Amino acid sequence: MDNFLKNLDLILDSKDENISLFANMSAYISEQMENLNWVGFYLVKNNNLYLGPFQGRVACTNIKYGCGVCGTCLKLKKTINVANVHDFVGHIACDCRSNSELVIPVFSKDNVVAILDIDSPILNRFTLQEQNILEQAVKILESKLKMI
Ligand code: SME
Repeated sequence: MDNFLKNLDLILDSKDENISLFANMSAYISEQMENLNWVGFYLVKNNNLYLGPFQGRVACTNIKYGCGVCGTCLKLKKTINVANVHDFVGHIACDCRSNSELVIPVFSKDNVVAILDIDSPILNRFTLQEQNILEQAVKILESKLKMI
């Protein structure tokens, strides 16, 4: 993960459209991190989530506020690091290979505008250190997004 954040900062161009930033960030995380089976964004509309740019298998397109890990993240406005998705009541299994999941809210001003969702087939995949780096990566993304 050396230079992970520095390179992300170079890749994400604030002149680009938001959808392009989401697309390249999901591709970049998927390229750079090992043992992932799904990386992508759910975008917020009318306080619910719909599927945005991602890398991985076909996924569920709509998630309601408060449902699953992503909808809970939208509700709590906080990162959720799930060591074992099978222990998370209400987890939505889009890809049955997933065993752990890291979900981080993306803010524009004080509003959550998207959710970064990263899934792994390995239990307890995401260390606190990696969580911190990925939260910093989301801060970089937030600094490049046009206000939504
Ligand atoms: N597991 C998520 C659903 C999205 S997929 O993982 C891509 C959830 O429980 O919200």
